[in-house]
Amino acid sequence: MQPRSRFVPLLLATLLLLVVAARPPARTAQPVRAQVTVDAGAPGATIPRTLFGIFFEDINFAADGGLYPERVKNRSFELPDPLMGWKKAEARGGSFEIRTDRAISANNTRYLRLTTDGETAFGVMNDGYRGVGAREGETFHVSLAARRVSGTPRALRVELRTPGGRSIGETRFDVPDASAGWTTLSGRLTSSAREMHGRVAVLLEGPGTVDIDVVSVFPVDTWRGRPHGLRRDLVELLAALQPGFLRFPGGCIVEGRYLDGRYRWKETLGDPAERRPLVNRWNDEFMHRPAPDYYQSFGLGFFEYFQLAEDLGAEPLPIINCGMACQFNSGELAPIEELDEYIQDALDLIEFANGPADSPWGARRAAMGHPAPFRLKFIGIGNEQWGPEYIERFERFARALKAKHPEIRLVASAGPGPDGERFDYLWTKLRELQADLVDEHYYQPPSWFLAHASRYDAYPRTGPKVFAGEYAAHVRGRSGPERSTWEAALAEAAFITGLERNADVVELSSYAPLLGHVDAWQWSPNLIWFDNLSSVGTTSYQVQKLFATNRGERILPVRINGSPGRDGALYASAAQTEERGAIVKLVNTAGAVQPVSIAGLGSGTMRVITLAAPLEAVNTLQNPNTVVPVERTIEARGDTLDIDLPAHSVVVIRPS
Ligand code: AHR
Repeated sequence: MQPRSRFVPLLLATLLLLVVAARPPARTAQPVRAQVTVDAGAPGATIPRTLFGIFFEDINFAADGGLYPERVKNRSFELPDPLMGWKKAEARGGSFEIRTDRAISANNTRYLRLTTDGETAFGVMNDGYRGVGAREGETFHVSLAARRVSGTPRALRVELRTPGGRSIGETRFDVPDASAGWTTLSGRLTSSAREMHGRVAVLLEGPGTVDIDVVSVFPVDTWRGRPHGLRRDLVELLAALQPGFLRFPGGCIVEGRYLDGRYRWKETLGDPAERRPLVNRWNDEFMHRPAPDYYQSFGLGFFEYFQLAEDLGAEPLPIINCGMACQFNSGELAPIEELDEYIQDALDLIEFANGPADSPWGARRAAMGHPAPFRLKFIGIGNEQWGPEYIERFERFARALKAKHPEIRLVASAGPGPDGERFDYLWTKLRELQADLVDEHYYQPPSWFLAHASRYDAYPRTGPKVFAGEYAAHVRGRSGPERSTWEAALAEAAFITGLERNADVVELSSYAPLLGHVDAWQWSPNLIWFDNLSSVGTTSYQVQKLFATNRGERILPVRINGSPGRDGALYASAAQTEERGAIVKLVNTAGAVQPVSIAGLGSGTMRVITLAAPLEAVNTLQNPNTVVPVERTIEARGDTLDIDLPAHSVVVIRPS
């Protein structure tokens, strides 16, 4: 019995298996092939060259510690705490003090006095912007102002050090004679090792006393090799976006928390050592991300912004304070009768950018090395303002600016949100005032971007144009670089098809913010993340780049299963190329492959550029290429092209 009873269950199990195996496989639902129709014979409005641009704000250490690659923080001892960033480099052997008598200039009123007790070197050490970065073999231009006070000091030595204190590069300077007064010393230093969080030490080889100021350690390898120029890898990432405009300097930084702390462009010109620092409003805006050492040196000032815009082939778009401090903070207002000073700032800015080299402000530009005008065409009046107070001020600005410069197009604010009472009020008033462009901001979840891809289909075709001036999809439950997921970027891509289809109404758009230092950020997500040595374009960066570099010249109508631009999880836009071919952009937000038949693209060899990834994918400094475009070519025969769109993908198809 025993053997038989054991055999029965085995037999039954085998039979069951055979039955299951013999059953036809369960049918997985095949997505229905979508019909995409591009009407290549009906080109619409011209797509402005400015449709995709960049928004720069000094937030997240985007300027000092980022694009402006000075390694020494508080190089002139001018911050409210004059020793911020500095401490003793050696335990013993001398002393130091901050002094103000016989300072180097009226704008640079403090300096450091170093005294050695004897022959041993003694000095101070700077901790840079979350450390001092140096690549192995990287050369730095080193300079400092020095004045001998007494004694017979042998030399001043500037060292690059590891956090543990090991020297990885140095340069030495003879101490000038006492009769020479303040003297600028300059030389070079090359790092013998790679260091992410190093230090800069300034040491006096005694015996004696010497004053020092404006201590600078600056990479030689900058964007376009300009002395004291911008950080090359970051500008290269910006250049690859082929931006149509560069908006600067923000953002809320324009407004200040109080008017006293507002951005004053005139203070950012001339010799960088003479530019007086100002607290950065992001310094302690967010209690959970404090940055008490966040100041603006203005090494990256208005001349440099204009020059950067020119280098990038982008229209400069400065935003100017309109007599209102940030309404999320003090909301301080400049009284209407005192608005002239602010309006004059805007008029002078136009002259600085466009005036002849012999005009007062044009001469300032010429003196900085750019006699030719910067061809400014746009100015933003205020950043994220709202209410009747704003309308009243905008109107005054518009009247004065248009009277003198009807050629300059004025950007007005639609406030901080994408809809609601404030927003509607502003739009109504700005239409009445015939503003040229209205700046809309939306930081929203991915679902909002998907739901609002057709937002501009219903906008009036006359009146002010739209500047989608700050936007980004914000996913929940993540922060820092991990927040720049493919889910966010995919939703932005779907939304951008709507911007492109409505490029007759939307003239400019920019993701915000642009840059974030991984060790010093206040806001996430950002378009580009960086540390002291390297940088990475996020998934959103890849989307911006894909759209901007495949912009096309004129809008082409596109339908999906008969609906303009969108059907279900599928989004599309199309454009005519210079050669009169058609580019189509398709965004499949579904988690399954979507087969499509595309009519109207013509025949021949086509380039197919694809971004596709799981929703949680991110590009990080450690893994920068998780989401990058993949390109192939296909042959289109006849007028219909059949193609499978991968799950969660953005696909661009264009003639090769
Ligand atoms: O992009 C960051 C901030 O968001 C900008 O400074 C401000 O305009 C907006 O609220």
